[in-house]
Amino acid sequence: MEIHDFEKVWLVASLVLIAAFVGTIVYGAVGPGVAMVGDGGTVDATDPTASEDFRDPGVYVTDDGEYHVYVVARQFAFEPGSGEPIRVPAGAEVTFHVASADVTHGFQVVGTNVNTMVIPGQVAELAVEFDESGTEYVKCNEYCGAAHHAMEGKIEVVSESDVDAEEVREA
Ligand code: CUA
Repeated sequence: MEIHDFEKVWLVASLVLIAAFVGTIVYGAVGPGVAMVGDGGTVDATDPTASEDFRDPGVYVTDDGEYHVYVVARQFAFEPGSGEPIRVPAGAEVTFHVASADVTHGFQVVGTNVNTMVIPGQVAELAVEFDESGTEYVKCNEYCGAAHHAMEGKIEVVSESDVDAEEVREA
């Protein structure tokens, strides 16, 4: 059987296209630092502060210099974040542990790929590294009630010496 030259070109071109499509899917899944939200365990769905980790939400640092930020989301604020900003150091690994005290909220750091749902009873865990100092904003992006649109917080990325991290707490 004879295959016309043009036919061969189209065959090769379509195979290249298929490989390219698969390549873009693989890249999109693992390329630009995409990772699943970690399973940070469970807490009381109506009172995360009953759990040891969320008793006193805030910024903690371990002996190894790892930062852990425990945040409680409730209608319609992040604690910390909304009242006082969350202060974390530039260049260090920061793990956010976010729990809801009422309904499903969102926790998105605007302009980054840090973005998770905060489901009552379930702790969302996300590790981030902020390279540069500056201010980042946190938005709730799950409709959570009448003042959902006003539910926001602030993260100040500062130098390590300006971080007021509380006592060492192992993750
Ligand atoms: Cu919390 Cu919308």
